[in-house]
Amino acid sequence: MREDDTRVLLVEFAASLFARGFSVGSAGNISVRLDDGYLITPTNSSLGRLDPARLARLDSDFRHIGGDKPSKEVFMHRAFYTARADAGAVVHLHSTQATAVACLPDVDPASPIPPLTPYFVMRVGRRMPIVAYYRPGDAAMEPAIHSAAQDARAVLLANHGPVVSGKTLTDAVYAAEEVEEAAKLFLLLHAAAPRTLTPTQVDDLLATFG
Ligand code: 13P
Repeated sequence: MREDDTRVLLVEFAASLFARGFSVGSAGNISVRLDDGYLITPTNSSLGRLDPARLARLDSDFRHIGGDKPSKEVFMHRAFYTARADAGAVVHLHSTQATAVACLPDVDPASPIPPLTPYFVMRVGRRMPIVAYYRPGDAAMEPAIHSAAQDARAVLLANHGPVVSGKTLTDAVYAAEEVEEAAKLFLLLHAAAPRTLTPTQVDDLLATFG
């Protein structure tokens, strides 16, 4: 896809996420890998009102070479791109229900949300670990996320929110939406000891849908 088209698609997805309440105020940031660098949303911008021409442009070493000042979470995004060759885009949100799960002390940090539905497994994968709390913009989160991202397409930052990668921008946005839905189901069912997908069912989904 041409860079201009990618810019327009990013702004459309961001506005859609904002309109549906996945992001409020200036929370959240989105990036995309290009052939020769990255696009990332500017710091302190609202996902609801981005300008394609003003997205921050980074070179392939994550240096700022154009557009507005990049998100302070460049380290968070870089952690995924360097850990996962298959990451073509990264979406970070403070979406309410996923963030709620990220605030629960008694969940399994290796896999706080069990495989309740096929689409969580298909879009997000086998598990989504919790990464310890870091102040927003703290570069120290990069190695922690990088390590967790080795075998996870998405992580939950404790008391902060989800970071979700995908092969394409569309995949990453769809996966971020599935994360929020899975968190909602998990919270709805928390007291009910729900039936989860079995390991065999999860293996079948991953073998069929990747
Ligand atoms: P930026 O405005 O710098 O992208 O930060 C927003 C955010 O979501 C911090 O985690």
